[in-house]
Amino acid sequence: MTIAVCPGSFDPVTMGHKDIIVRAARMYERVIVAVAESPSRKAPLFSLEKRLKFLNSSLLGLDNVGVAGFDGLLVEFAKAKKASVIIKGLRAMTDFEYEFQMAQINHKLYPEIETVFLVARPRYSFLSSSTVKEVAVYGGCLDDLVPEEIRGDIIRCFREKEF
Ligand code: PNS
Repeated sequence: MTIAVCPGSFDPVTMGHKDIIVRAARMYERVIVAVAESPSRKAPLFSLEKRLKFLNSSLLGLDNVGVAGFDGLLVEFAKAKKASVIIKGLRAMTDFEYEFQMAQINHKLYPEIETVFLVARPRYSFLSSSTVKEVAVYGGCLDDLVPEEIRGDIIRCFREKEF
């Protein structure tokens, strides 16, 4: 059985993330969505608990997908879960340099791991967690930006400043 990890900050999960996870779930027997407790590039707005909850609600019904938090190196998490593949989505060339670097260092740290890039569908190529937060903070419409199951919850979190 091939196990894949799909890592990220998911701060919060977007429709673009969900699309990549659904596609990965068609390709591998088991997919573990790995939520970094403290990602290296920027401090998350939402607590790990909320990010996990948003993902779990968004991915209900995907029977071969699980969600887990991790701290430390991604490859150590992958090893512990017996995963042999890392799945990352690529939206544009701007993602590529960073993702290329990550794939190389992850391979150096754990040569058995393969990174597989899935190209974002055009309708999600503009979408990021940062743009979602920017829209939400000004009370804009989140339709088609975040999964339907969590839209109300995210709007409420911004209204009540509860992250
Ligand atoms: O959603 P993001 O910001 O693209 O996710 C980045 C993430 C969490 C996948 C990346 O920061 C990561 O793997 N962090 C764990 C630490 C690690 O293993 N870094 C790579 C070796 S330096």
